[in-house]
Amino acid sequence: MRMYDIIDKKKNKEKLTKEEIEFFVKGYTDGSIPDYQAAALLMAICINGMDKEETVQLTLAMADSGERLDLSDIPGAKLDKHSTGGIGDKTTLIVGPITAALGVKIAKMSGRGLGATGGTIDKLDSIPGFSSDLSDEAFKRQLLDIGMVDAAQTLNLAPADKKLYQLRDVTATVDCIPLIASSIMSKKLVSGADSIILDVKCGSGAFMKNYEEAVLLAETMVDIGKMAGRRTLAVISDMNEPLGKTVGNSLEVLEAVEVLKGSGEERLLTLCRELSAGMLVMSGMLGEADPGNEALLDKARSLVDETIVSGKALNKFREFVRAQGGDDSFIDDRNILSKAVLKRDVVCDKEGYLSNCDAEEVGNVSCLLGAGRLTKEDSIDSSAGIIIHKKLGDRIKTGELLATLYTNNEDVIETAAERLAAAYCVSSSPIDKKSVIMGVVS
Ligand code: URA
Repeated sequence: MRMYDIIDKKKNKEKLTKEEIEFFVKGYTDGSIPDYQAAALLMAICINGMDKEETVQLTLAMADSGERLDLSDIPGAKLDKHSTGGIGDKTTLIVGPITAALGVKIAKMSGRGLGATGGTIDKLDSIPGFSSDLSDEAFKRQLLDIGMVDAAQTLNLAPADKKLYQLRDVTATVDCIPLIASSIMSKKLVSGADSIILDVKCGSGAFMKNYEEAVLLAETMVDIGKMAGRRTLAVISDMNEPLGKTVGNSLEVLEAVEVLKGSGEERLLTLCRELSAGMLVMSGMLGEADPGNEALLDKARSLVDETIVSGKALNKFREFVRAQGGDDSFIDDRNILSKAVLKRDVVCDKEGYLSNCDAEEVGNVSCLLGAGRLTKEDSIDSSAGIIIHKKLGDRIKTGELLATLYTNNEDVIETAAERLAAAYCVSSSPIDKKSVIMGVVS
């Protein structure tokens, strides 16, 4: 078999066989297929697509490229969660402790941010002492001891995805449904959890810009999960503006703590409640593990609210931070997390209603301030980021505060302020506020 012929076949819109897909994944993982040939095939897949059978084969080949985490000796329902990537998305830091406090085992492997979207590991790294670099044994021990663990992709799980994702990132081949679905699901299939909840982001700050594409991605991933014998649920959520009030690593950790203390921004809280409720139902702890059962979901939503009000979710977060070596004192005193030296308010120059947001641009501005990286090698400034004071649909007056920027880099602050202001549109007529939940695929 020759890689040249596989590329040529996909270029000519032909369907690849299981053997050809396995040849590609194995060869690229072991280094016998070079980057330039892999990049050519990825681009051909982006342009000509893959059908469901090819996508499933690609996922399975990527899942088989490394080890699998065996959690079968850990009792209880084990859940994993994954977001397709958004701006200001700190939901894992909230739904993890909520559901773990209610007895679900959260076995999570998270990534770092790249480009406009953030990553949970970068957020957790802003906590002094926190380590996301866990061995197989440490991962399982913590899951058993406190019911929640979140590690970076350091274990030898789905190494094909690790390599391919890095290549996709620099070859404009990320936003492609079969490639996203296989990337996410290969990691989920090897992480050992028996149920998977997917948060598929849709809108200006997401890979999927329109609803139809988001549904297709959600359906593809749910089908792969089910075919592999995992309970899988996808929530499609709105990403036409940043989630919550903050973008940037330590700012987002602090916002997650606020939500766990009971005072979260409404849309963020709604999404976290829905994801947590879906996870609780899927775990089977409330009876039938049917995430379409509205009565069970209602019961789960009440339990989620109670867990926040009682302080149990916050306690679980504290336990989780400590278990991974973090200093939890920032939970009581937010000043403990490092703060940016420079602060710049951005005010609105029009009167009306916030009608539109280029959420990806807000993510790019956050990167410019230092909160994200443009290449894998860049270091990030955990104190940099943005506090957003207004949400879409809010009334705003001329001169009123839209956002506050935080950075340690004086050179970027003016450009960042101009770009942030330009990322929002103001309309003279009122705008309907959209629900953060756009749909559910189960
Ligand atoms: N997240 C992933 O893990 N992979 C993708 O391809 C996109 C988002």
